Amino acid sequence: MKWVIAMINLRSDTVTQPTQSMRHHMTNSSVGDDAYGEDKSINNLQHYCRELFNKEDALFVTSGMLSNRLAILSQTSPGDEIVLDYNYHINFFDSAAAASVCHVLLNNRFTKDGILTIDEINEALNSKPRYEYFSQIRLVSIENTINGWVGKIFPFNEMKRLRHYTQLNNMSLHLDGARLFNAHIETGISLSDYAAQADTVSVCFSKGLGAPFGSVLMGSHETIRKAKKFRMWMGGAFHQAGFQAAAALFAIKNNIDLLKNDHENAYLLKERLENISELSIHKNSGETNMIQFSLDNIGMSSTQFISNCEKEGLQLFHWLPGVVRAVTHSGISHSDILQSVEIIKKVIFHHSNKNRKEL
Ligand SMILES: Cc1ncc(COP(=O)(O)O)c(C=O)c1O
Repeated sequence: MKWVIAMINLRSDTVTQPTQSMRHHMTNSSVGDDAYGEDKSINNLQHYCRELFNKEDALFVTSGMLSNRLAILSQTSPGDEIVLDYNYHINFFDSAAAASVCHVLLNNRFTKDGILTIDEINEALNSKPRYEYFSQIRLVSIENTINGWVGKIFPFNEMKRLRHYTQLNNMSLHLDGARLFNAHIETGISLSDYAAQADTVSVCFSKGLGAPFGSVLMGSHETIRKAKKFRMWMGGAFHQAGFQAAAALFAIKNNIDLLKNDHENAYLLKERLENISELSIHKNSGETNMIQFSLDNIGMSSTQFISNCEKEGLQLFHWLPGVVRAVTHSGISHSDILQSVEIIKKVIFHHSNKNRKEL
């Protein structure tokens, strides 16, 4: 008889499955043609987000990546520059689209800790001539929480400073808040206070909140009007997508508080992994729902390590060569975390043993 191993999936918080109650809610939601503004569920979601984040307008879109692209397109012209940290998602995973779809230049800063500051932007601004016919910095983009900095929370006071600076310098400020709900639940700072610090805010429903689909981009009437046009240009307009919007609204209303469990599980994982001397754990691990560790002291590639873990029932994410990421989410329990630690220990033990035998 062949045993099927139940997988513990820590690859990302995008792997969450809709719960039965969410599925039920979706099935019973009302839909219409959004091209005519007649999809009630989409209208409800957009209305709810406008109120919750206190922004003039909100637009439901397919994904976080599309939302970021629309924020760029609606606040820049071809040839403009965006200043951001190298590890923010817009550069780290999506730079091809910035160049090919948005026709902008990413002026990446290698910040020491993931927090883009006024000094970094000034440096970007003053490092080349800025006569009117040269490239201009029109947009500053930040992220909260910061995926590429292991779920780190962008400090609120720094956001306020950036807001002030960008307003004075004729730049817009975009907040990629794919995981802003995680920052909010951890700091207690309201979503509207966070949103007030940026011209545009993008949030995702298909990460820790557990909905199957979608993001919302928020900003001024004028910016969202442009974003809607660009969404259509990219074939991203909807007809009866209210089923998805209903799931997103259900997620916002019911699941934000649950993120606290994910953070506790991530912290537990970090604490347990710190006891494994062969691993170097990234210092931001466990601040919200992410963990990263390096395999430098083990002498094993991350591909091999991940494949060996998977054979034992644990899925992890290859971040960079030698660097592995784990993300907690609603599908992960306390006991999954303890079991994951045992699997990781076992994989390291077998590898060291094999090496010893070969010597
Ligand atoms: C910070 C950040 N922004 C944007 C995205 C893209 O979201 P999506 O996968 O919905 O396109 C992600 C995905 O993980 C992300 O971490």
